[in-house]
Amino acid sequence: MNQVDYLRISLVDRCNFRCRYCMPEGVKFDYLLKEELLTNEELLRLILEVFMPLGFSRFRLTGGEPLLRPGVAELVGAIASLPQTQDLSITTNGFLLAPQAQKLYDAGLRRINISLDSLNSDTFDQIIGNHGRSRWQEIWQGIQAAHSVGFDPLKLNVVVIPGVNDHEILDLAALTIDKHWHVRFIEFMPIGNGDLFGDRGWISSQDLRQRIRQRWGLTESQICGAGPADVFQIPGAKGTVGFISQMSECFCDRCNRMRLSADGWLRPCLLNETGQIDLKIALRAGISTKKIQEQVRQLLTIKPEINFKERDPGTTGLYTRTMSQIGG
Ligand code: GTP
Ligand code: 5AD
Ligand code: SF4
Repeated sequence: MNQVDYLRISLVDRCNFRCRYCMPEGVKFDYLLKEELLTNEELLRLILEVFMPLGFSRFRLTGGEPLLRPGVAELVGAIASLPQTQDLSITTNGFLLAPQAQKLYDAGLRRINISLDSLNSDTFDQIIGNHGRSRWQEIWQGIQAAHSVGFDPLKLNVVVIPGVNDHEILDLAALTIDKHWHVRFIEFMPIGNGDLFGDRGWISSQDLRQRIRQRWGLTESQICGAGPADVFQIPGAKGTVGFISQMSECFCDRCNRMRLSADGWLRPCLLNETGQIDLKIALRAGISTKKIQEQVRQLLTIKPEINFKERDPGTTGLYTRTMSQIGG
């Protein structure tokens, strides 16, 4: 069994986008109230007194959109300064990034994953559900700012939606030729928004790799990170292309992570919440961190059995919680 040492921490369930595959317009969400969110103090206590003693040393901050949470740089600083923190990263949609990139870097954040589903501003706005002035420029500025302040690795996440952005695969992959950026293509999952998935289906990483290989060739590569991506490189390119293949492959056997939702639920798997525990209630009920640690240890022992392994890889069955609620 893989060592589970990577915790994805959702800081907030809200988002400033309405991505059609995640939080589509017209769907009502019951957002968490402020008092339902774990506070910074509670989060730090859990990290330091519960997770670190269990061997967790890698942390990723997610959302919704994590940069919507006030004081995120302070939280970054606090986690980064803990001696047992080996890796701290964030996954963001990039909209609020440009003005905060330097502050986050100075606080100790070194790596960042930014969503970028399209290089075309109209397509981009269509995907994120934006009807006003285009938001693409802000994202691009956020990426440039992250690059300038020195985030490394800088990863760009592309959810590939057939007929919407798959014709841009080569243009997106080409970004890695001159820039030390890492573009990752994510197979579209039937999670959150069924209509779009039902209409469009998904394209396999193998198919995408073939398209890129035919154009430039591809060699196997590696990149710092702890996630499920398979990494390749266009010969001579500065960056890499990665493929996250949760539909066509099963990487549960190398899963190294757990997920903490913004309201304190610890879930063992993105797509399976069997055994999940409510750490906020435990903390607020005054249960000792030693006892909470015991519950988490118990969940860790059953995690390998309650993963996503037995699912039908071609499933179109829907998962009701969205990525924004689980933390991606
Ligand atoms: P690093 O490799 O550490 O940079 O992280 P990552 O690639 O796991 O992080 P990121 O937040 O960028 O995740 C990208 C996407 O990978 C997510 O949005 C999911 O679609 C997918 N993913 C990440 N972890 C899992 C997992 O445990 N199970 C499944 N099925 N998909 C995952
Ligand atoms: N399928 C694949 N990836 C998804 N994400 C959100 N919803 C889906 C889905 N249905 C990804 C985003 C981002 C991360 C937070 O989750 O693109 O990279
Ligand atoms: Fe889009 Fe991420 Fe926001 Fe979901 S959480 S709507 S994927 S930006």
